[in-house]
Amino acid sequence: MLQKGRFITFEGGEGCGKSTQLRLLAEWLQKQHIANLSTKEPGGTPIGQELRQLLVCGDKDKFDAVAEALLYYADRRIHMTSKVWPALTEGKWVLSDRFADSTVAYQYYGYNKKVPFRTLTDLYQIAVGDFKPDLTIIFDLAPEVGLSRSFKKAEGMTIKETRHESRDLEFHHNLRQGFLEIAKQEPDRCVVLNADKTIDELHADVVNIVRERFKLF
Ligand code: TMP
Repeated sequence: MLQKGRFITFEGGEGCGKSTQLRLLAEWLQKQHIANLSTKEPGGTPIGQELRQLLVCGDKDKFDAVAEALLYYADRRIHMTSKVWPALTEGKWVLSDRFADSTVAYQYYGYNKKVPFRTLTDLYQIAVGDFKPDLTIIFDLAPEVGLSRSFKKAEGMTIKETRHESRDLEFHHNLRQGFLEIAKQEPDRCVVLNADKTIDELHADVVNIVRERFKLF
């Protein structure tokens, strides 16, 4: 793939505010006349929407961790081939609400390393190859704060997408540590932001990072 655009991923635990921040960055990029596309995982494509229903709704124990990782990777492969790579080739900046770090944080760290790490790196290689995000922003927030926001949001939904939210607090603490560990392992790609701020303050942090990383002044 001849990549002309940039690929930025937004990561973090439940209720960390990443989706709002993605929307605000997309608006900001638009103002800078940078063509961009907002998308998400799971569910960034029509087939992905069907996979999303399976993955985020219903009983929390309906899959084992390996089956779950395979389904997230099926969604990811479809997402990359039909949406992300074509947009990057056209020169668009692609903003994705979650990507492969979520699989490592949720299915590996969250589940207390029940899936061998090697399984996840193999799946990445099969589905995504050597391609990586140009920038990953990790929104770090205490799970207690994020979960209460997330459950409040779900109150208004007819279909409750709370399969992972309903896991115990230890799971959410593990996945928070998991995201921090990922950032430690790949400091060139990942930036951790303290998400315990107002929407505007956090947006200013996001813009600063993007300006600096991509030399937009
Ligand atoms: P969202 O609520 O941010 O839209 O994400 C959907 C849920 O799917 C969320 O609980 C995190 C979870 N998830 C994983 O467990 N593994 C993954 O690889 C991805 C992309 C999401």
